[in-house]
Amino acid sequence: MKAPHRLYIETVGCQMNMLDSEMVVASLRQRGYELANSPGQADTILFNTCSVREQAENKTYSALGRLKQEKQSNPDKIIGVMGCMAQKDQRMIFQKAPFVDLVVGPGQLQQIPDLIEKARTEGGQHAALSLGRRDGAVKDIKRSHETYDPLRDPTMRPTPFQAFLRIQIGCDKFCTYCIVPMTRGPEQGRPPSQILDEAKILADQGCKEITLLGQTVNSYRFRDGDQTTRLADLLNQLESVDGIERIKFVTNYPKDMTYDLLSAVRDLPKVSPYLHVPLQSGSDAVLKRMKRGYTVADYREMMQRIDETLGEKAAISSDFIVGFCGETEDEFQASVEMVKECRFKNSFIFKYSERPGTRASDHLPDDISFEVKKRRNNELLAVQNQISEDGNQAFLGRHVDVLVEGPSKKADLDDRPSRGPIQLTGRTHCDRIVVFDGNERLVGQTIPIGIYDATAHTLIGTVVTQEATGEIVSLA
Ligand code: SAH
Ligand code: SF4
Ligand code: F3S
Repeated sequence: MKAPHRLYIETVGCQMNMLDSEMVVASLRQRGYELANSPGQADTILFNTCSVREQAENKTYSALGRLKQEKQSNPDKIIGVMGCMAQKDQRMIFQKAPFVDLVVGPGQLQQIPDLIEKARTEGGQHAALSLGRRDGAVKDIKRSHETYDPLRDPTMRPTPFQAFLRIQIGCDKFCTYCIVPMTRGPEQGRPPSQILDEAKILADQGCKEITLLGQTVNSYRFRDGDQTTRLADLLNQLESVDGIERIKFVTNYPKDMTYDLLSAVRDLPKVSPYLHVPLQSGSDAVLKRMKRGYTVADYREMMQRIDETLGEKAAISSDFIVGFCGETEDEFQASVEMVKECRFKNSFIFKYSERPGTRASDHLPDDISFEVKKRRNNELLAVQNQISEDGNQAFLGRHVDVLVEGPSKKADLDDRPSRGPIQLTGRTHCDRIVVFDGNERLVGQTIPIGIYDATAHTLIGTVVTQEATGEIVSLA
């Protein structure tokens, strides 16, 4: 019998990319491929790429560069570039890295198995790309960006009891700094029946937590005749899927955080009261240059709406871009003030990176120096970290339900007494990371943890069981 093909895949970027990689690996495994741990051991090498910041692209091009030799000594090796950078840079990738065999955009992933086969048998370079945003009628552009959700394979996820579930592809917001609408195409909601079926399959496979994915997930809508399904309706339907214990959804767009959605989050016990709603900047002038479509006052109103509906149990997180075109010191300070005012659970903070093909790149000079961006990044992060730590301190002495994900990064798996406790990690319903000592068999279970210490990013606790007396007994 012929030896199976061996696949090495490297993934960068957002959760969408992680899900895409899971799907591609699953489809190749169905064709008999096995996974390899390094490019050297593989006959097929795929890079699932991201274009959101220049640094992500540079990393991929350097990784590709390192494969040049490898390809020269093993010309039969197939090297493919898939994902957002494939769609953005297209055939230019063949010029920059002439030894690449495949360039496949995120809307064409279903073609990967056949294209690999073709490259292997016929040789030559092959590209499968979706239409650009100005390359035809909207319906044709939409059709050229296909959602890619074939059969799920639980063994392909880092944890089989947690899964991403795509409900929306693309984005129509066109924030001036952002490349995503160009790489992922027009916003399209998947039909609710497909989403529900996939959730049931996942539950049957033992999945307990699903995270619904969309670039602006709360803008989700699907029209069928005169019936429109929105995210709140979808959450109601998913709540009744047996076996699913937790439902999360990312990423949210502030303008679409409606009262009916928040009420669904309040009323549906499986839905996590964790809301990732990027603000991006605390200055109206900057928000306008970013074309975010809301003002700081709108965001404040949203925060108030969240507070009124969900109260204390809500955990809000955000993204910020520092050093966007023309950002003055005062405008930056407005972001600092909003972090202090909103007291986010955490924030992801990024230095503005000009992306060719975006509105900002065409019309606004990238005029803030790297040093200033770096300083602002550090300053905003320091303020946020203090707030995160204060927020976590509030959990001291409390019990939280944690879905155990696996050994923590610190867990020393090689140096432990056999089957003894190790440091495990998991998350609360509101997405806080918790570490504690426990037996590995707890992985995949939801258990109560008593919190005795906290840092900015982690709660530290022990497994507890509440005896009839109310006394806390450690199980770890
Ligand atoms: N769809 C999501 C985010 C997609 S990109 C949303 O709209 O919230 C993730 C984050 O990367 C963004 O929230 C933004 O903060 C950051 N980002 C996007 N483009 C960027 C750029 N050109 N430079 C720096 N950060 C960027
Ligand atoms: Fe990019 Fe804005 Fe769309 Fe998010 S909403 S993906 S930041 S264009
Ligand atoms: Fe990157 Fe594409 Fe996601 S650009 S952030 S991988 S949608």
